[in-house]
Amino acid sequence: MNEVFFNGHWVAPDQAKVSVFDRGFLFGDGVYEVIPAFNKQLFGAAAHLTRLARSLAEIEITNPLTQPEWLAVINRLVADCPSKDVSIYIQVSRGTPPKRDHAYPNPPVAPTVLASASPIAPVSEAIRTQGARAITVPDLRWNRCDIKSVNLLPNIMARQQAVAAGAAEAILVREGIALEGAASNLFAVIDGELLTAPLGPHILGGVTRNRLVDMVRTQGQLPMLECPIPFDRLFDASEVFMTSSTRDLLPITRINEHPVGEGRLGAVWQQLNHDFQQLKLQRNAQ
Ligand SMILES: Cc1ncc(COP(=O)(O)O)c(C=O)c1O
Repeated sequence: MNEVFFNGHWVAPDQAKVSVFDRGFLFGDGVYEVIPAFNKQLFGAAAHLTRLARSLAEIEITNPLTQPEWLAVINRLVADCPSKDVSIYIQVSRGTPPKRDHAYPNPPVAPTVLASASPIAPVSEAIRTQGARAITVPDLRWNRCDIKSVNLLPNIMARQQAVAAGAAEAILVREGIALEGAASNLFAVIDGELLTAPLGPHILGGVTRNRLVDMVRTQGQLPMLECPIPFDRLFDASEVFMTSSTRDLLPITRINEHPVGEGRLGAVWQQLNHDFQQLKLQRNAQ
């Protein structure tokens, strides 16, 4: 397997060893980022690195690398990966102080830094032609979902429920509002308008979400609303899709036991997915 970037060095994955006292291991005290490359071209790297910097700042970990240093690491990982479509994983934890203590170590210790690459699996034929099913589950997460924390237990449990139910994604519902997916943002076409949850502490500000919102606004053909989607209104939607860096615009044609709209790929999704794929081909999209 290809080398990973670990605490400033390039090593084989089985040589990258984390201490049992690492705060990421003990407390989930760290953040992460996932950056895609398609056909060996990074897509949205600047926005992802900005979000990483923000997540780190929110939990008061000093960013271990500058943006050009991160880009050098990421570009090497993309180049070395045998696949053309690559997912870069970055994780930074608060490091390994000598003693387990909930409070941040004072003085701070060096963070534990990992960056690795893996292939992005192509979308299955079934999803490309028929769309996917999602289930709705209660949102059990905390009140800072805008931080891309490695504390993912509620997301993991939600996704596992989806997998166990034969669905592709779980839609998280908090106080009657359908917010986002276990690892994706949520869009719904209701009465001819495109809706997605507003940015704030209850969702992760998805890079794909933000880019799509900008694209739709620039096109000016479809009203784009950043507003809460009430759970019941989800079932009035003519189309639903969920966005993320590695799954693009995932069309949802069934939620729980109900078809979305006519239960097949919708015209809005087809157009926006087409336009989004075009965007990915533009060099300046990096
Ligand atoms: C909770 C959550 N929301 C949304 C997203 C989508 O974000 P992005 O488009 O930046 O991949 C993710 C991605 O992992 C996520 O974990």
